[in-house]
Amino acid sequence: MRGVYYNEFGPAEVLKLGDLTMPEPAPDEVLVKVAYAGVNPIDRRLRSGELQDFFTREWPLTPGWDVSGRIVKVGRDVKGWKAGDDIVGLAFTWNLHHGTYAEFVPVKAASIAAKPAEIPFHQAAALPLVSLTAWESLAEYAELKPGQTVLIQAGAGGLGSAAITIAKHLGAKIYTTTRTENFDYVRSRGADHPIDYTREDYMAVIKAREPGGLDVILESLLVDVPVEADISLVKPGGTVIYMNNEPPDMPEIARNQIKTKFLHHRPDGESLGRLMKLYQQGKLALPPVEVLPLDAAVEAHKRSEGGRTRGKLVLKVLDL
Ligand SMILES: NC(=O)c1ccc[n+]([C@@H]2O[C@H](COP(=O)([O-])OP(=O)(O)OC[C@H]3O[C@@H](n4cnc5c(N)ncnc54)[C@H](OP(=O)(O)O)[C@@H]3O)[C@@H](O)[C@H]2O)c1
Repeated sequence: MRGVYYNEFGPAEVLKLGDLTMPEPAPDEVLVKVAYAGVNPIDRRLRSGELQDFFTREWPLTPGWDVSGRIVKVGRDVKGWKAGDDIVGLAFTWNLHHGTYAEFVPVKAASIAAKPAEIPFHQAAALPLVSLTAWESLAEYAELKPGQTVLIQAGAGGLGSAAITIAKHLGAKIYTTTRTENFDYVRSRGADHPIDYTREDYMAVIKAREPGGLDVILESLLVDVPVEADISLVKPGGTVIYMNNEPPDMPEIARNQIKTKFLHHRPDGESLGRLMKLYQQGKLALPPVEVLPLDAAVEAHKRSEGGRTRGKLVLKVLDL
């Protein structure tokens, strides 16, 4: 089968397109014929070697966790799925080898959900990682409630786009950081107060508007995360969820009973199924998706590294 792979950590150019061994599903997996693969910052951070201490691997590595496609084979212990089912899923594993930037990928049956017919394959591949992360952060961990205030960092990005529509669905008042040219975009998804971080000190703006502090912060910046600042922006009893860092060691956290953690997404197919229904019913807004061909994986990683993509990038793999 055709797929993208790399045999060493390094810049985007280590990605090659070529022939790979056809994978077989393990007993608890399904084998998926891939329609589209979603592109996420984690794909390039794994490729660069930045996170190599946290994962095991078998070379060559194929990048990609987000997938939409059709089941072609089921593992012997899999119940409830059959060849021909259209699915969306998250091919996450702690041992890197198979990924979704390839024509076929094995995925844990527990990490997939049915793809509603109304959601096209290219849209579906953009949803799993960011939607699960945003839901698990805002709805499950922070228990965000109607009328509460939330700051979503990098609101125009993949995770920010999912987090804004989810926070809106939960009834929150939403602050978000993004450049002015993305204000209409983040407002269209439900943001109440976009702040251009290149023109204003977003912390000063929020402190002036919310002197008592925010209820919840989703710290989803790509780099240079202001870990300590988040703790000072949240009200006593509030919640700060870090996407890339452990919380700082600060006495204010215990003193002000701040709930905080580094949250790593859970690849939960049942939860993904409930989220897909919310998208299908129009209760959550689908993100804008830019489609690139599979042979443009190098460009996709460079674009992701540039930090300016709005919504999601996906790679087209096969016509189904
Ligand atoms: N823990 C987890 O399970 C988990 C899951 C998913 C993602 N993440 C992490 O969450 C972060 C965001 O992921 P993503 O998928 O949203 O990335 P992304 O789609 O690549 O984000 C791109 C966006 O970042 C915005 N941006 C860049 N610099 C910014 C700044 N200084 N302030 C505000 N916005 C800025 C850009 O908007 P402008 O052009 O308007 O600046 C752009 O729209 C990444 O670090 C990723 O690794 C963690």
